[in-house]
Amino acid sequence: MFEPIRATFFPYELAPGIRAIPVTDAAAFWAQAVPLLEAIFPPFSQLGAYTLPAEREPRLNALGQAFAQSHHERFLFQTTTGEAIGFSYGDLRDRETFFMTSSGVLPAYQRQGLYSRFLRRFLSYLHLVGYERVVSNHQPNNRAVIIAKLKAGFNVTAVNLDERWGAQVELTYLFAEDRRRGFARAFSLDERPAGRSH
Ligand SMILES: CC(C)(COP(=O)(O)OP(=O)(O)OC[C@H]1O[C@@H](n2cnc3c(N)ncnc32)[C@H](O)[C@@H]1OP(=O)(O)O)[C@@H](O)C(=O)NCCC(=O)NCCS
Repeated sequence: MFEPIRATFFPYELAPGIRAIPVTDAAAFWAQAVPLLEAIFPPFSQLGAYTLPAEREPRLNALGQAFAQSHHERFLFQTTTGEAIGFSYGDLRDRETFFMTSSGVLPAYQRQGLYSRFLRRFLSYLHLVGYERVVSNHQPNNRAVIIAKLKAGFNVTAVNLDERWGAQVELTYLFAEDRRRGFARAFSLDERPAGRSH
């Protein structure tokens, strides 16, 4: 879905020798993303988060297939030698909202601007696809991603409590000025310009 538009934005150079590459095939993406997730995040079991018992997995097959038909985006950040050093993925949540599910960069490559450069490019792409808003959830002490996203123009829009992930801060990026004004008006906030990244 959206290949012609995506092709005008990606692959994209994040730094000399490192590119963000779209991977449309889900199995190919996960083959490289899972080792990255394991290297970047602590195991969920250590966090005490809920995990679905294996015997109930088959019940979700039909819904999984329905979800697979939706709009998904999957990226690997790759060196010129083909080594994956970072990833980002997410999907359509409603007809105007893209949800950035997870992103990560191996520790040796963090703090070099890779994620923020990817994010700016990705937001511009999502805007052209037609999205009005981009949402993500983060553990409240995940300062790295929260600060990077605030700098990109996201605002805090909620705190969510969920048996799977625990407490999470919800961040939202709004593309249109009228939505940004609407957000400020709805909560009687001073209008404080948020950065634009698209
Ligand atoms: C979040 C993450 C993807 C950011 O990637 P990154 O490529 O290192 O980020 P950037 O270099 O683009 O950082 C952009 C800005 O974010 C802020 N930032 C990044 N890491 C930070 C940290 N550890 N502490 C405080 N601020 C941080 C800084 O303001 C930084 O700009 P600066 O370096 O000019 O000061 C990376 O830290 C990561 O992989 N973390 C572990 C996985 C994770 O938590 N993912 C998010 C879950 S959805």
